[in-house]
Amino acid sequence: MNLVDILKVLSDGNFHSGEELGKALGVSRTAVWKHLHKLDELGLELVSVKGRGYCLEGGLDLLDEAVITASLGDESRGLIQNLDVFTDIDSTNRYLVENGLGGDVCLAEQQTKGRGRRGRDWVSPFARSIYFSTAWVFSGGAQSLEGLSLAVGLKVADALAGLGCRDLQLKWPNDILSNGSKLAGILLEMSGDVSGECKVVLGVGINVDIPERIGQSIDQQWIDLKSMGFAGTRNDVAIALINKLLPLLSTYSDTGFKPYRQAWESLDAFRGKEVYLSSVNNRVDGRAAGVSDTGALLLETDEGIRQYSGGELSLRLRS
Ligand code: BTN
Repeated sequence: MNLVDILKVLSDGNFHSGEELGKALGVSRTAVWKHLHKLDELGLELVSVKGRGYCLEGGLDLLDEAVITASLGDESRGLIQNLDVFTDIDSTNRYLVENGLGGDVCLAEQQTKGRGRRGRDWVSPFARSIYFSTAWVFSGGAQSLEGLSLAVGLKVADALAGLGCRDLQLKWPNDILSNGSKLAGILLEMSGDVSGECKVVLGVGINVDIPERIGQSIDQQWIDLKSMGFAGTRNDVAIALINKLLPLLSTYSDTGFKPYRQAWESLDAFRGKEVYLSSVNNRVDGRAAGVSDTGALLLETDEGIRQYSGGELSLRLRS
């Protein structure tokens, strides 16, 4: 028996006695009890009531590899090579950067060292968000990947819109916002030959149902799918992501960003707004003027329209 077996039983949010858990899992009550202690480490609050047993209040929305695999569309079924669903991992991106081959997909219930853009951490509580990564190999070098992270943002927004989410916007280069707050983030990590064959690991984090207590440690304004009225499951989100992202990756070196530009601009949260773009030691003020055919940010500055690209930049509203 492993921890996930107990979690599956408790995921219904009902009370289960130690004896019942032991019977269902084919182990002694002592073994059950030892496992229950580990729930603490996952940040899960187990309620224990004498005479009734144990319960995880509100239940758990767990990922299910079999459900995900069975529900993939024909196109992504032909593109996916391997699907790993981890109960606990440091980072799904790190895992695929080190081990992933083209077409591999990795999901996790929790990340202990989730990576964000610009060296930040990505808060990754157990079973409360989507932690998704996929690897793809491109032969045309870094240049053929221009704009990819924006196209990914657009496809993530498409996937969520398909699940009924409304009022989604994109913030250059690749944040997904709703009501001005961050709903999802994207991290692309590239390795290999910048002018030849390179591997891209694309990571997506989507807030699904972040507990208030944990939300306090997120250092920017955030929103989650639950507060937007989403009533589906994390499996639904994972399936929609795979179905949108693998076809994008498989065709991107032929299409580039151009065919996605208009759709991206229609969701641009900052279009026409007074903004500033900052890097570690530089700041440019201007008015956001959309994006180029390669996904570069267009800024109207005192010196005319300027184009900016690169992963270490951050765009903010001027107040
Ligand atoms: C950002 O800072 O906006 C990017 C966040 C990306 C988080 C995701 S969660 C799955 C994948 N694994 C990681 O360690 N990071 C990405």
